[in-house]
Amino acid sequence: MNDLTNQVAVITGGGRGIGRSVAEKLAAQGARVVVTDIDEANARSVASTIEASGGAATPLRLDVSQSSAVTALMSHVEETFGRLDILVNNAGIAGTPVWVDQISDEDWTNMLNIHVNGSFYCLREAAKIMKKHRYGRIINFSSCAAVTGLAGMAHYAAAKYAIVGLTETAAKDLGAYNITVNALKPGVIRSALTEGFLDLAEGPLTEATPIRQIGEPADVAQMVAALVSPACGFVTGCSFIVDGGFHLVNKMDETMMKILPAGTGV
Ligand SMILES: NC(=O)c1ccc[n+]([C@@H]2O[C@H](COP(=O)([O-])OP(=O)(O)OC[C@H]3O[C@@H](n4cnc5c(N)ncnc54)[C@H](O)[C@@H]3O)[C@@H](O)[C@H]2O)c1
Repeated sequence: MNDLTNQVAVITGGGRGIGRSVAEKLAAQGARVVVTDIDEANARSVASTIEASGGAATPLRLDVSQSSAVTALMSHVEETFGRLDILVNNAGIAGTPVWVDQISDEDWTNMLNIHVNGSFYCLREAAKIMKKHRYGRIINFSSCAAVTGLAGMAHYAAAKYAIVGLTETAAKDLGAYNITVNALKPGVIRSALTEGFLDLAEGPLTEATPIRQIGEPADVAQMVAALVSPACGFVTGCSFIVDGGFHLVNKMDETMMKILPAGTGV
């Protein structure tokens, strides 16, 4: 198991879902995790669970879209712990599916504020601390929506494509300081964010996915743990799809399944 003893990790949106799983995973590997979320009660609950199982966790309220709040939080982290090794830019919202010509200014701006501005503010402030120690691991959350686009989610997809640009450029700007910056592109992962979608489509989606499973938050947390491990010290500026192979699926496959002998691929 990877040993993160003495490392400090800030996780945004750590109060539930994938962020919660990431916080628990990194804490189980010895990191002191700062569990931040706009929902302070959830952040506290996650931190309590971690502490109860022997880990070290500090809950803090943070709305990532507020630049001054991010700056204050990162200063607090530096003053308290004297270092920051890992930043997981996970906070996000799905928004409401809507045709592209019907997206309001407010919804568009809110989506970009949380995902793009939020990831940028956190990355910028974290990098200032990490540069002093010439070490850092930054993981940004993009999405499979930034592989093929996603019907009805132009605001979400645009934000998630922007995060790839941020990741690739930050990797160049920070590499000389031994700070790696990578992105994850999860497919459909079981969480509050995808609850409604899975209610509608869990069966067909499971069947269509090459691995024949819906992703769980722990599947994504494992990838975060891999990217902050020494094994990935030479990996930067990359985006990793975590979707059980679903991005490979296309309409041609359905026809091929009808042509192939029964049982093939099962
Ligand atoms: N679940 C999926 O299928 C999936 C797929 C691709 C990408 N993602 C991305 O993974 C990340 C986590 O998603 P999830 O499925 O765990 O969602 P979730 O809704 O379960 O959790 C998101 C967390 O972010 C917090 N949050 C929302 N706005 C915030 C803000 N302004 N500041 C701070 N915290 C805020 C929420 O309170 C919540 O705790 C998101 O960036 C999401 O876009 C998820």
